[in-house]
Amino acid sequence: MLITGASGKLGKELVRLFPESLTPSHSELPIEDKAAVSKYIASHKPDTTIHLVAMTSVPGCETDKEKAWKINVEGTRNMVEALRLHSPGCRFVLMSTPCVFDGDDESPKDESCVPSPDNFYGLTKTVQEAVVSSSGLKHLIVRANFIPYEKYPHARAFIDRKSTYLFAHNVARGIRDVMDAGLTGIVHITGDRVLSMYELAKMCPDSADVEPTTMEEYYKTNSHRLTKSMIITSDRWNAYRIG
Ligand SMILES: NC(=O)c1ccc[n+]([C@@H]2O[C@H](COP(=O)([O-])OP(=O)(O)OC[C@H]3O[C@@H](n4cnc5c(N)ncnc54)[C@H](OP(=O)(O)O)[C@@H]3O)[C@@H](O)[C@H]2O)c1
Repeated sequence: MLITGASGKLGKELVRLFPESLTPSHSELPIEDKAAVSKYIASHKPDTTIHLVAMTSVPGCETDKEKAWKINVEGTRNMVEALRLHSPGCRFVLMSTPCVFDGDDESPKDESCVPSPDNFYGLTKTVQEAVVSSSGLKHLIVRANFIPYEKYPHARAFIDRKSTYLFAHNVARGIRDVMDAGLTGIVHITGDRVLSMYELAKMCPDSADVEPTTMEEYYKTNSHRLTKSMIITSDRWNAYRIG
């Protein structure tokens, strides 16, 4: 098995569950370099790939759209084309996001809902999903929303931005469960209750001093659009208890 982006927040948890995996670093598998990706896949021929590499910063994707497109869309295309050529039986697992949906209201989105992203990050993830679903590879597209179980990295957290959040280790376990069950297509891995980011932050270790804030406050100094509600549910898989 190959895990791309294994050094990231979710990757670290997946590597704990799949310790025998190939886990190339950024420099060993620079995703936007088509020749390098093809060479790596040709020499390793994985039978399963969990693709996590992405430009994940929402403001970063807005300020450098070209880079975001190259990594998130063209990088994914490089992966699926190399696999189709050198390892066509490979199962391809893509990590996606509730940011493919608009978050204008708090109606929960299941797998049948139509994507309509609010920002460029969400757009690249929506196109990335289309690249994978039209690849001809056996594929699984997982959407989830998570943070690592560690000190919350910000001084303030939103009381009015909500999701069915999980911690990264919960999502890693969910991915393994869904893979073990042999599911294909789109699957949402979700928490069993809606939490604001503030409630989520308070559940993190050493984070009792995190203060509440609102999106209105955020937009006083930031112009890019965040997906407000990221509440997802699943028609295909049971929700997990966060923790
Ligand atoms: N965090 C969330 O809340 C969330 C929610 C839903 C979905 N997702 C999706 O889940 C996946 C993993 O997210 P994460 O939060 O774990 O990501 P992350 O912590 O930002 O890690 C990203 C990984 O991608 C690698 N990478 C970045 N650019 C690369 C490039 N050009 N070539 C090769 N490697 C590159 C990074 O390596 P270096 O650091 O060495 O560059 C790192 O290993 C992403 O697809 C993301 O869109 C995340």
